[in-house]
Amino acid sequence: MDCLINKLNDFLCNLNVFYRKLQNYHWNVVGKDFFVVHSKLEEYYDEINKQVDEIAEHILVLGGQPLARMQDYLEKAEITEAENMKVKDDLVFKNITKDYETLLGNCIKIKEEADKTNNYATSSLIDEYILDYSKKLWMLKQMQSC
Ligand SMILES: [Fe+2]
Repeated sequence: MDCLINKLNDFLCNLNVFYRKLQNYHWNVVGKDFFVVHSKLEEYYDEINKQVDEIAEHILVLGGQPLARMQDYLEKAEITEAENMKVKDDLVFKNITKDYETLLGNCIKIKEEADKTNNYATSSLIDEYILDYSKKLWMLKQMQSC
């Protein structure tokens, strides 16, 4: 169980840093598609915010301790923060595509560990995330292929 909880906490750290990064981009994005990108980023960080809560509470359901300090998130997250500066919309999409790939990688590791240990609740919960991130990655790649 400890291994599964550690993997869920790794995922939680990435989700928290990604939330901050998406809102940073929402504020600082520039480009001719500003209105579309600005509102899409808000939709994304609202979803990530709900996922932060769901994953933290799932860790508690499993009897674990969710990491809750900014210090932990910054130390452990693979996803890196965005800078305090304006950023072009094409770079935003390139960077968040990479970040969604990182999140999908976290979920696949969680799924494998949950299945190995017959943890059905985690396995079924994480399926939704795998589907969601896979679809987002398809859309983000479609948008960048023109
Ligand atoms: Fe806003």
